[in-house]
Amino acid sequence: MNAPIGVIDSGVGGLTVAKAIMELLPNETIYYIGDTARCPYGPRSKQEVRNFTWQMAKALEKMNVKMLVIACNTATAVALESLQKHMPFPVLGVINAGARAAIKETKRNEIVVLATEGTIKSGAYEEAVKSLSTKAKVIPLACPTFVPLVESGEYEGQFSYNLVEKGLKPIENERFDTVILGCTHYPILQKQIEAAVGPDVHVLSSAQETAKDVEAILSYKGELRTEKEPPQHVFHASGSVPIFRSIAERWLEQGALDLHKISFEK
Ligand code: DGL
Repeated sequence: MNAPIGVIDSGVGGLTVAKAIMELLPNETIYYIGDTARCPYGPRSKQEVRNFTWQMAKALEKMNVKMLVIACNTATAVALESLQKHMPFPVLGVINAGARAAIKETKRNEIVVLATEGTIKSGAYEEAVKSLSTKAKVIPLACPTFVPLVESGEYEGQFSYNLVEKGLKPIENERFDTVILGCTHYPILQKQIEAAVGPDVHVLSSAQETAKDVEAILSYKGELRTEKEPPQHVFHASGSVPIFRSIAERWLEQGALDLHKISFEK
């Protein structure tokens, strides 16, 4: 089926998942919404995050997507089940994929989960990890300064290394061999996070595992895109279009993105 795949996030973070989908499935079209006007979702109430996520899902339903990827852990934790129940197409979250990536990689079963306050409070990662391995120990840490840093677009200088190091201070005496980036914004800070935890720790995201899930679902349903012309991705941001463009074009290594402003009712 030649319809697009919908991808949503509170902001630019879901682009880390979109990029992995583009790499694994280069013939697929992506319609992306980043709710940058209301980002971050991490400190918001469950109800608010659920409402905002539903608004984005509805907008993509109107654009006739064939499936939806909730490329936001905070939104996955509170809205995945209800969207799966009510949307007329498959809906995929990122938390199970992140947990799977960590369990595949860890040797000592000591896993740090870095995520937003909302995701950490939900306990969704612990649950997902425990459902795959009863031996695994999960050390959760909320990193509330990381998403605003990424969304500012100023995440490349020494300042970003200092801020990440400070954010990871609470786990400096913990033992772990694997870090899950349990927020889709964090792979944009991968270098800074790797520098802070040192070379012996694996730092993983859910992006590649999620892309594999997308492929599995579409091929099982016989819905992979068959058209020969290259896909035309479309991006939407509810906040600043120039800032979104600058981050997205850098991260995706593509110029002249087809990018539009989108508004949601309060
Ligand atoms: N990128 C999102 C996540 O994976 C949310 C970041 C936020 O808005 O706080 O959780």
